[in-house]
Amino acid sequence: MPGRPLTSRPGAVVGTVTRGTTNPNRLRRCDRWIVARHARYLRGLPEPVVVDLGYGASPVTALELDDRLRPHVPGLEVVGIEIDPARVAAARPLERPGLTFRRGGFEVPLDGRRPGLVRAFNVLRQYDESQVPGAWATTADRLAPGGVLVDGTCDELGRLATWVEVTVHGPRSLTLSWRLRGLGRPSVIAERLPKALIHHNVDGEPVHALLRDLDAAWERAAGHGGFGVRQRFLATVDDVRGRWPVEPGPSRWRLGEITLPWAAVAPAPPG
Ligand SMILES: C[S@@+](CC[C@H](N)C(=O)[O-])C[C@H]1O[C@@H](n2cnc3c(N)ncnc32)[C@H](O)[C@@H]1O
Repeated sequence: MPGRPLTSRPGAVVGTVTRGTTNPNRLRRCDRWIVARHARYLRGLPEPVVVDLGYGASPVTALELDDRLRPHVPGLEVVGIEIDPARVAAARPLERPGLTFRRGGFEVPLDGRRPGLVRAFNVLRQYDESQVPGAWATTADRLAPGGVLVDGTCDELGRLATWVEVTVHGPRSLTLSWRLRGLGRPSVIAERLPKALIHHNVDGEPVHALLRDLDAAWERAAGHGGFGVRQRFLATVDDVRGRWPVEPGPSRWRLGEITLPWAAVAPAPPG
């Protein structure tokens, strides 16, 4: 794992309070992916625990994660963790069987239990890029064997979303997810890239080349638009697949979602 845990001080709350902006339903794209990609793994855990880290001023996204995942993971426990004590106090009245809230940070305090998945959305975007590897390492250290951290960013209404899947070995994949209706060009997602990539959307960097290629393929696929925006997007993905290792899965592409190995988009080494 690149980066060192941010602290080794036992009991320390790791991180800082940031803006609490959230919105109902804005994490639906990521939740749908979590169900598709990780529900089976979570079902296999003896004690499946999933954390919504940094749920914000209202715990609505934690309730939604619980609603969406529970039908697929019997015995699931969802824990909302916030670094701001006032936001924990505000969420507590909404606790229910299998869903609780507590204070904490990237160290993910769970009384010794290890989460199979930690979803941290719109949390690291308010940190400095230099803090990302340490935050990833701190949280990944807490995961159950085979577990993942999902570090993502989205717009206010969740029409554009991106996330990095991180394991104890480091970042594994990047997923980009667009609402296809009304999409002007794929690169509009640039402003919602995760912190680890957003400053790398410049000439010479892989993520910039990917977005440029997607835009060019989108233009070439304009003729498919007559069959609907979904057909245009499928043709776009088909076009770039020759040059980019987009994971197989037309059923995901139809949703306006592509996943690539992290190695394909990782920032170029400095120098
Ligand atoms: C912009 S809100 C995101 C809310 C929700 N996750 C969403 O995407 O709609 C970010 C929240 O993360 C919290 N936060 C920041 N750093 C944190 C950390 N290290 N651990 C837990 N919460 C953190 C902030 O206090 C804030 O409430």
